[in-house]
Amino acid sequence: MTSSIDGQTSHPDDIAEWRERNVPMFNKNRFKLGVFGLNCSHGCTISHAETTFEPTFEHNVKIAQLADKIGFEFLLPVGRWRHFGGTTQFNGTNLEVYTWAAAIACHTKDIMVFATSHVPTVHPILAAKQSATIDNISNGRFGINVVCGWFKPEMEMFGVKQLPHDERYVMANEWMSCVKRLWTEQDFDHDGQFYKIDQGFLSPKPVQQPHPVVINAGSSPAGIGFSARHADYNLLSITSVDKAADIIAQIESQAAEHGRRCRAMSYALVCCRDTEAEAQALYQRIIDEGDWGAANMIIELMLGENYSYGSNKDEIRAMGERFIAGWGGLPLVGTPEQIVDKMINLADLGVEGLAISWLDYHEELKYFGERVLPLMREAGLRQ
Ligand SMILES: Cc1cc2nc3c(=O)[nH]c(=O)nc-3n(C[C@H](O)[C@H](O)[C@H](O)COP(=O)(O)O)c2cc1C
Repeated sequence: MTSSIDGQTSHPDDIAEWRERNVPMFNKNRFKLGVFGLNCSHGCTISHAETTFEPTFEHNVKIAQLADKIGFEFLLPVGRWRHFGGTTQFNGTNLEVYTWAAAIACHTKDIMVFATSHVPTVHPILAAKQSATIDNISNGRFGINVVCGWFKPEMEMFGVKQLPHDERYVMANEWMSCVKRLWTEQDFDHDGQFYKIDQGFLSPKPVQQPHPVVINAGSSPAGIGFSARHADYNLLSITSVDKAADIIAQIESQAAEHGRRCRAMSYALVCCRDTEAEAQALYQRIIDEGDWGAANMIIELMLGENYSYGSNKDEIRAMGERFIAGWGGLPLVGTPEQIVDKMINLADLGVEGLAISWLDYHEELKYFGERVLPLMREAGLRQ
């Protein structure tokens, strides 16, 4: 692979070094941190539990600026087009991700801003153009989370029938190849199964070399295949340590077959308080005030997609709780010391960071900065 850094043709090692110096997602921190889902109503908690969080742009700027100031690496919005019903109409009010990223970039300095782009809703030329533009606006701080769309009523709202699961990834592979070619080449033709591009042209190119950071959260074999081929990070859903270790090994070995690296991160809800009892009480409040109507709708949709969450009632209830608490992410509940211990375990497993949600993003992020970050530095997870 060759690419151009400052007009020079460069070796992959030079690109890796350039990224390490210039792109927060590749900095030297052993455990990177992001804020997840802040652009949507109720964030990642499907609950009526009381919070000061609001999915308004003004409040998002406040959260983004705090995360930027305390050194978080990234902000990851959720790409969402409609709600999940229930009494919360979960995630129904949300800010569109590309325009959100462009605007948030103008209110922040160092942190990376992602857009979560649904493949079937955006033509690759538009995705490449918007991404390159936001990368220029932010001076190289843009990243893209590529998702195929699994929420059928949301995707079919666009008037197009949803493809079967694995075919969505065939489309995503072609989409991503087109986006990458637009970012890095000029005047090329593409004639594929889903897209035809005559004399593909894009200017300005993105600032980042070789291109903006690409992430994906697929955990199926097709999803892992996509990540291995195209993503810089896969954001794993961790349900068990053994399974996670196995998936990380698969992603790494498959990426190596394509001559590239793809690393692993995950996502989590953090409930952190001075005492374990207070943290548990916070977690319990989220569950007790959970919106089971919306959570059950999500679980049914996912079961329809063949995700296995166990077959008996207890297993499904446990999965429902995880969705209510933090969109199915790892629940990290405890004192600052306990949270850092759990992060050390994740880092030892090969997980290089977390996209985090909280019930009350701004207030709990402030506490996280004051109480958890210093312990992470002491533990060598961050500089
Ligand atoms: C951290 C994370 C973020 C995600 N963000 C979105 C999103 O914004 N919009 C969306 O429709 N799906 C999103 N998903 C769902 C994934 O794109 C994907 O459908 C899911 O992880 C299942 O992957 P699989 O189909 O390969 O099994 C997200 C998943 C994770 C774990």
